[in-house]
Amino acid sequence: MDRIRIVGGRPLKGSIPISGAKNAALPLMAACLLTDKPLTLTNLPALADIKTLTSLLEQHGVKVTPGDRQITMEAKEIPNTVAPYDIVRRMRASVLVLGPLLARFGNAVVSMPGGCAIGTRPIDLHLGALEKMGAKIHIGRGYIHAEAPKGLKGANVRFDKVSVGATENVLMAAALAKGETVIDNAAREPEVTDLAKCLVAMGAKIEGMGTEKLVVKGVPRLEGATHKIVADRIEAGTYAMAAAITHGDLTLEGAEAEHLAALSEVLRKTGAKVEESKAGIRIAGNGAIAGADVITEPFPGFPTDLQAQYMALMAVSDGAAMITETIFENRYMHAPELSRMGANITIHGSSALVRGVEKLFGAEVMATDLRASSSLVLAGLVAEGETIINRIYHLDRGYENLEKKLSDCGAEIERLPGGR
Ligand code: UD1
Repeated sequence: MDRIRIVGGRPLKGSIPISGAKNAALPLMAACLLTDKPLTLTNLPALADIKTLTSLLEQHGVKVTPGDRQITMEAKEIPNTVAPYDIVRRMRASVLVLGPLLARFGNAVVSMPGGCAIGTRPIDLHLGALEKMGAKIHIGRGYIHAEAPKGLKGANVRFDKVSVGATENVLMAAALAKGETVIDNAAREPEVTDLAKCLVAMGAKIEGMGTEKLVVKGVPRLEGATHKIVADRIEAGTYAMAAAITHGDLTLEGAEAEHLAALSEVLRKTGAKVEESKAGIRIAGNGAIAGADVITEPFPGFPTDLQAQYMALMAVSDGAAMITETIFENRYMHAPELSRMGANITIHGSSALVRGVEKLFGAEVMATDLRASSSLVLAGLVAEGETIINRIYHLDRGYENLEKKLSDCGAEIERLPGGR
């Protein structure tokens, strides 16, 4: 397994082009199952998770034509509506094929995703909503068996917890259901809105995009479309913090300021300069980093997917910060690794008290999940000496050309083949 070697201490300066969002691309790719016409997605990031979903779609029978930063998918005939364990266990987002398969073909057999490093992550909200829409669901031998021989019907779905994946699954299912579906307490994440926009381009009737109430009037069939994937706010947010932590100055080309408003507000509190323009966002470190508390929340709150990176930033603040994670119960796997680099972090239940230290020191550390890995990269960029990060396949799931993007801005970072 490859490793990443970083020698810290260089301020990052320059521009980083922000890729298309992984978390938008995955549901958008699943949406190809809703139509027999070709769906083309542009601004596609080159990531391991995209390859995983491509293989899942191909084994269902989708004809996939890759292009330059784009993909065309044609789900004309789908001989196989089974999503096997071997692929689903690699990537939980595979469960997003459930809604589209069920809506268009009336049946789907999808492996249960199981737990993952950041928590138990159940899918009860997905299943409960699809049952309300008339699906008959049972779990057997680790698989979800779902059937709706006469098709799905519109329903009133109220989620008691905000779920990105459940909102996306129901949105796709509702697009082809008979009648009207109302989704209350829907996730408002920009990736959900991006999916809704693409569905509308395919002929779906959706109102309330970007709000917590989505109203979908089902249509008998959807058409093909070409859709540009929204910029990755989590990638952009990670590099924003790379600028702040190294006291650098980075322009994040193509980043959408309104998708990162919660982070920008906090970064300003820590003392960084944040300028927003049509071209993107510019972040510059500005002397000492002040401590500022953060609570993760569904959009438009502070994203859980930026919590680990923010912890790295607070590790070298001039003060202290309380970080509270409200979305996932076990999302502090990076804390012990950051501590190995000299960070002072105390965890109490869902909160972490981070007392800033003057310096972090390079060490050999292990990536445990995608965003935890990027927090170790940020720590490595500012640490004294050499940091080696093991198990970086996590990073390859969500960051396109990470080493190149950072080294182009002055970081000393390289990929080492092999390792543990
Ligand atoms: C998506 C993102 C992930 C991000 C997360 C929260 C993708 C591919 N992944 O994951 O990067 O961290 O949103 O912003 O877009 N829950 C239930 N029952 C359910 C579904 C969810 O209890 O049926 C809980 C989860 O355990 C979690 C919370 O709801 O505590 C939010 O999860 P959810 O928004 O569904 O996350 P994902 O869609 O899996």
